[in-house]
Amino acid sequence: MKLQQAILPVAGLGTRFLPWTKNIPKEMLPIGNQPLIALLVDECLQVGITDICFVISHGKESIPKYFSADPALEAKLEQKGKLNLLEQLRRYNDVHFHTVYQEEPLGDGHAVLQAREWIKSDVVAILFGDDLYAGEKSGLEQLCHAYAGLPSGANLLCLEEVPLQRVSSYGIAAIDEIASKDRMKKIIGLVEKPSPDEAPSNFGVVGKYIIPRQTINALAEIDGDHQKEIRLIDALIKELPHAFVYGYVCEGKRLDTGTPEGYRKAIHILG
Ligand code: UTP
Repeated sequence: MKLQQAILPVAGLGTRFLPWTKNIPKEMLPIGNQPLIALLVDECLQVGITDICFVISHGKESIPKYFSADPALEAKLEQKGKLNLLEQLRRYNDVHFHTVYQEEPLGDGHAVLQAREWIKSDVVAILFGDDLYAGEKSGLEQLCHAYAGLPSGANLLCLEEVPLQRVSSYGIAAIDEIASKDRMKKIIGLVEKPSPDEAPSNFGVVGKYIIPRQTINALAEIDGDHQKEIRLIDALIKELPHAFVYGYVCEGKRLDTGTPEGYRKAIHILG
């Protein structure tokens, strides 16, 4: 299976970064000379993905604009012989970028649903904006490698062991230890933001997924329930009785760039 398509939902309000996010998306904060979102796009390019869909909200147009070709700038750089910079800009030219809007922030699953019509492949990667791995291999590269050994049509989630007192900030997985091996975990249950007493484990779901079309269809059915927020985890819970759902505990240090404190750490490590 070759992964060709990725959805990058970046429509959230970014309240933890206010007032910065009043008019500049947090995904456009710099790490070195690139915005954070470029690191996620690079994760996709590294595994051969050529089709990327941004789910944005109104006011976040600077995200897709950053990736669009700029022939006038390219011509100037060429004239000045700045070939390294030119190469940096041109590496996006063969990628198909697409943008859809999420009109209201009705949840991460609702954001993914806005890209449903765009999905052409049987399996799609979903990368949320805030999670990066510092290490030899990106999170998505590790997931792709792990996915190759799974039954066709499986769901693969990125997992991380989190301190018990922090489980209430995550979707937490119940694991079948006997059917699990090393970093690959067989998931038999999922609970959204449980208290430490109710958590079935301390394996938290991190914002990187490889998901078959069937799960996106299940997500669309949740849409019909008129819940307030539509979450991707709800579709996975729905799929658990009849689909393969695995989690992979990625190597490397996870960086959560969704908070000013986490962003500062990311600059320190990656910048
Ligand atoms: P968060 O829960 O971190 O929300 O979303 P946020 O808006 O980015 O940040 P805060 O909590 O207000 O500070 C996790 C990911 O899901 C996307 C976000 O853009 C982020 O990548 N998301 C969330 C959407 O695209 N739409 C939503 O309705 C909710």
